[in-house]
Amino acid sequence: MASLSLPDCAVMLLFFFATVEAINSKKPNIVLILTDDQDVLLGGMTPLKKTGKLIGDLGITFSNVYVASPLCCPSRASILTGKYPHNHRVFNNTLEGNCSSKAWQKTQEPNTFSAILHSHCGYRTFFAGKYLNEYGSEAAGGIEHVPPGWDYWYALAKNSKYYNYTLSVNGKPQYHGQNYSQDYLTDLLSNVSLEFLEYKTKHVPFFMMISTPAPHSPWTPAPQYEKSFSDVKAPRNTNFNIHGKGKHWLIRQAKTPMTNSSINFLDNAFRKRWQTLLSVDDLVEKVVKKLDAIKELENTYIFFTSDNGYHTGQFSLPIDKRQLYEFDIKVPLLVRGPGIKPNISSKMLVANIDLAPTFLDIAGYDLNKTRVDGMSLLPLLNGMTQNVTWRTDLLVEYQGEGHNKSDPTCPSLGPGVTNCFPDCVCEDAYNNTYACVRTIATPADLQYCEFDDSEVFVEVYNLTSDPHQVINIAKTIDQEILEKMNHRLMMLQSCSGSTCHTPGVYDPRSLYGCCLWIFRRHRIRCHIRDYQK
Ligand SMILES: *[C@@H]1O[C@H](CO)[C@@H](O)[C@H](O)[C@H]1NC(C)=O
Ligand SMILES: *[C@@H]1O[C@H](CO)[C@@H](O)[C@H](O)[C@H]1NC(C)=O
Ligand SMILES: *[C@@H]1O[C@H](CO)[C@@H](O)[C@H](O)[C@H]1NC(C)=O
Ligand SMILES: *[C@@H]1O[C@H](CO)[C@@H](O)[C@H](O)[C@H]1NC(C)=O
Ligand SMILES: *[C@@H]1O[C@H](CO)[C@@H](O)[C@H](O)[C@H]1NC(C)=O
Ligand SMILES: *[C@@H]1O[C@H](CO)[C@@H](O)[C@H](O)[C@H]1NC(C)=O
Ligand SMILES: *[C@@H]1O[C@H](CO)[C@@H](O)[C@H](O)[C@H]1NC(C)=O
Ligand SMILES: *[C@@H]1O[C@H](CO)[C@@H](O)[C@H](O)[C@H]1NC(C)=O
Ligand SMILES: *[C@@H]1O[C@H](CO)[C@@H](O)[C@H](O)[C@H]1NC(C)=O
Ligand SMILES: *[C@@H]1O[C@H](CO)[C@@H](O)[C@H](O)[C@H]1NC(C)=O
Ligand SMILES: *[C@@H]1O[C@H](CO)[C@@H](O)[C@H](O)[C@H]1NC(C)=O
Ligand SMILES: *[C@@H]1O[C@H](CO)[C@@H](O)[C@H](O)[C@H]1NC(C)=O
Repeated sequence: MASLSLPDCAVMLLFFFATVEAINSKKPNIVLILTDDQDVLLGGMTPLKKTGKLIGDLGITFSNVYVASPLCCPSRASILTGKYPHNHRVFNNTLEGNCSSKAWQKTQEPNTFSAILHSHCGYRTFFAGKYLNEYGSEAAGGIEHVPPGWDYWYALAKNSKYYNYTLSVNGKPQYHGQNYSQDYLTDLLSNVSLEFLEYKTKHVPFFMMISTPAPHSPWTPAPQYEKSFSDVKAPRNTNFNIHGKGKHWLIRQAKTPMTNSSINFLDNAFRKRWQTLLSVDDLVEKVVKKLDAIKELENTYIFFTSDNGYHTGQFSLPIDKRQLYEFDIKVPLLVRGPGIKPNISSKMLVANIDLAPTFLDIAGYDLNKTRVDGMSLLPLLNGMTQNVTWRTDLLVEYQGEGHNKSDPTCPSLGPGVTNCFPDCVCEDAYNNTYACVRTIATPADLQYCEFDDSEVFVEVYNLTSDPHQVINIAKTIDQEILEKMNHRLMMLQSCSGSTCHTPGVYDPRSLYGCCLWIFRRHRIRCHIRDYQK
């Protein structure tokens, strides 16, 4: 009997449609999980055991990841646009500093990666959690404002909170009180994310951004985690509770040793930060399991990162971010997804400005049509770590908040800066304004920073010999290297798009860098003056 019976035909038809579906759904899904204020250097990933297993062990862990600015709003703007702060023009956490301002909405928001994924790449997009600190302000259109490019929008009004908050649910307010089982924000984000995945449309790729309040203050853990890590204290590492002599004035003024109340406070904050991260770990596990259950896990990239680092007692500053040191500017980045080999790590110098071009590259969008300052990580994800030409330096820029010249008193904290606990140690001021070049090339691990303060202060660190940035070598480093780094900084501060990727001082594509690469092994000195211009 050669003729097909009806059931066989149905099977064949099913097979046919399944194949069409497989072809149509070839574009991978992307999930970005973004935490708030999670460091990587002081153990910030330690509580996230399941995340480590489900993303890191099954994908790639980047160990040199920096933020373009160590403050929530400028950093988030860099993630959304792929640009340095001097190009997206979000400089602090206030409307005046363009945080979620009308000017941001008009000039930057229409060009975020989500807007492009939505309009040009056929992605269905979902956002849940903290967006930009001033999101929802009346002066910026209130929570009715839903940024372009998001199909599903569950955004927190204003800054991170765990209870008693308002969400914009597609532009409509939804108030939440303080009943754990209905309101705990990290869990709620997990629930709405699973709901979105439940109703995903078969043929349409999706992008999800899940942006948790944890581990930001007020560090409210879920009830089941209130007793966790009861004996954990902030690490007493090399730069804990030491005087930052030879550093800029803000560090020099910090009282050393810190008072016991400051130390108790920061230990408590450290512990509570870890407790709040346990709920993030649960969220990650639930999202991964759900992706598996709906059979999308193999076709989904999952990115896990944070908006900036954090310190607890380093150089006698109790708690905050906003400083140029590794603990504040370095963040975790774990990625799993199609084609990424399991359990690998990369020391390549990457930054949060690379996320937007990476997402667009994954979606097949021509990056030449964008003006992003970052670079796609896709070649690194695909394992091309040998042949790829990669950057050797990055820019970090920060504009100090909270004080102005007519209000010079420190520690009287200005508008927007409320962390005057427990001992009012000054952690920021208008002149804590700086820009740095962070260089990581095979022969160099350096940081060069300039302050916009009355001393035009310069800090330079050789992280090869001084990984904890204790000794400022600005006065002892080779004068020619200092000059080269100064020129490089000026160039990066005005760079845009591809000019942000030109060869740095130590890049093998530059003459000096090339000399270092070739002659390093032969002990021939490369004199930088031979390679000017
Ligand atoms: C990943 O590597 C680490 C150490 O390199 C090892 O302990 C762990 O078992 C590995 N995990 C997997 C899933 O291969
Ligand atoms: C805010 O953004 C707009 C548009 O990019 C820009 O013109 C303006 O200078 C920015 N404001 C500040 C204070 O930088
Ligand atoms: C939430 O708001 C209620 C009522 O205003 C207040 O009593 C409670 O302390 C708040 N809870 C938190 C965690 O902020
Ligand atoms: C909290 O919400 C749960 C589930 O809706 C409900 O059973 C419980 O009574 C609520 N608790 C309070 C204190 O309102
Ligand atoms: C999340 O969903 C779980 C399971 O349905 C439920 O038990 C929990 O109360 C929900 N939490 C929140 C904050 O909505
Ligand atoms: C601060 O704590 C240290 C160590 O616990 C203790 O030796 C010291 O007496 C305390 N100082 C004050 C002023 O309480
Ligand atoms: C983008 O521009 C670069 C350099 O101009 C070129 O080599 C590359 O082929 C372009 N890519 C596409 C997809 O057009
Ligand atoms: C690097 O490029 C060379 C020549 O193009 C090629 O033979 C080699 O396989 C590449 N290596 C990797 C790791 O991609
Ligand atoms: C934020 O930046 C704007 C523009 O530079 C400035 O006018 C404002 O004073 C800053 N706000 C704070 C709190 O520093
Ligand atoms: C400077 O600070 C003073 C005192 O806090 C405040 O009254 C004034 O508005 C501030 N000026 C600017 C330009 O932010
Ligand atoms: C920075 O500002 C503070 C507060 O106004 C002032 O005390 C300090 O001298 C200034 N330092 C420099 C180097 O500009
Ligand atoms: C940094 O320190 C290393 C190790 O001590 C040294 O070899 C290197 O020359 C130093 N670099 C600079 C620029 O001082």
